[in-house]
Amino acid sequence: MSKDNRTAWEKDRDHVIHPYANFHNFKNEGSTIFTRAKGHFIEDIDGNQYLDGMAGLWCVNIGHGNEELAETIGQQAKNLAYFNTFENSSSVPAAELAAKLAKLAPGSLNHTFFGTGGSVANDTAIRLAHYYFNLKGMPKKKKILSRELGYHGSTYLAHTLTGIKITHYGFDLAPDLVHYLSAPYIYRNGNGMNEQEFCDFLMEEMEQKILEIGPENIAAFIAEPILGAGGVIVPPKGYQKRSWELCKRYEILYISDEVVTAFGRLGHMITSFDLFDIEPDILVLAKGISSGYVPLGATMVSDDIHDVISIPKKENPSLTHGFTYSGHPLACAAGLKNIEILEREGFCEHVKTWGPYFEEQLKTLSDYEIVGDVRGSHYMMCLELVKDKSTKAMFDFDLNISKRVYQHCKKRGLMMRPITPLCVFSPPLTFDKEAIDQTVAIVRESLEATISELKNEELLSTV
Ligand SMILES: Cc1ncc(COP(=O)(O)O)c(C=O)c1O
Repeated sequence: MSKDNRTAWEKDRDHVIHPYANFHNFKNEGSTIFTRAKGHFIEDIDGNQYLDGMAGLWCVNIGHGNEELAETIGQQAKNLAYFNTFENSSSVPAAELAAKLAKLAPGSLNHTFFGTGGSVANDTAIRLAHYYFNLKGMPKKKKILSRELGYHGSTYLAHTLTGIKITHYGFDLAPDLVHYLSAPYIYRNGNGMNEQEFCDFLMEEMEQKILEIGPENIAAFIAEPILGAGGVIVPPKGYQKRSWELCKRYEILYISDEVVTAFGRLGHMITSFDLFDIEPDILVLAKGISSGYVPLGATMVSDDIHDVISIPKKENPSLTHGFTYSGHPLACAAGLKNIEILEREGFCEHVKTWGPYFEEQLKTLSDYEIVGDVRGSHYMMCLELVKDKSTKAMFDFDLNISKRVYQHCKKRGLMMRPITPLCVFSPPLTFDKEAIDQTVAIVRESLEATISELKNEELLSTV
């Protein structure tokens, strides 16, 4: 490492607080500092190249270094980098993007509130749901149903919605707000049920929970169509539709958190309706909306919600919710151009073609003794690692098994996301056959290296 690079590394180590930093080893390891990227390749400060198996963080959907998008951002910065959208001000990109989203989104989701990312968009969804019921004269409707292992972000509210219990440790949550249903995770929660039985079980549990809390006290159910950070969990067939129908029956708003699943990752721009046949009341978007080039999030609401929240009230005629960067012209221009590129370049078709191949190739890794499950859909995949396949026993958490595989992948030129016990893959949608084959070959070698390491350390049986 050169002296300058070492200095940057030290400054980062000493002054940047990293999300999800693991303080067991951070001071020693520090960060890998990335400096440039193109397509699905990324390069670090020492000139090492990697395949980006995570699209940054499930977001760089059109790939890195897209010049057309960079030029649009630059031009918008020159024309109008910023003005607010409060009250009666706006910009052309904000208007155009909101109109485009209304075309893409299902049902009567015609109105968009812009923010800066997924957490803020979920926070907005909950605030608007509460506001809606308050204005409708139903102020008791406040509770939110979420799921264990659901991930919804890191603001106070979004973290409360998040059902990944380990992340709650040491933090406070908004009190008495969220009830967590079981994760639709057949591998660990299925208890020998088939898909249909498991779905019935989950629906029964959901309805029981609704009746126990009282539908008059529940504002909304929030769900990712496929759970992402909590384990790339694909719910049983029919789950999304049936849970949506339950919400309709009990007048509970359905919030579809499509922060990861939208904008091509599953081969569709928006999946709620196209893949799962539901028309949510609120749709939450971020990440792929701007391919991560600029921070942007969106909370879309139905005509019905908009009609209620836009009635002027005597006590306060304004919608008193807003961020300096709501409808940021530069972010909206990036979002608009990004969607144009996704559509023009046929990324959804590309993912529909190569997604099944990616799934099939990753499934060839199931034979390894530490690979308990390979699951996901299209460009949203993971391996779940286990110590014993027959009992599904897990490795000691402190062993950080996925990080071991990650280190081997990294050495071989692949970045994936280790969320112990998972190895997660969510690549740019530019990933082609060559990139898929290279990824799977590197993961194969890395699994083999990890297994022999574990055996040498007597952490895995040699018989
Ligand atoms: C499904 C889902 N919702 C919300 C979020 C939070 O988004 P952000 O990190 O942009 O705030 C994420 C982030 O990974 C996510 O995966």
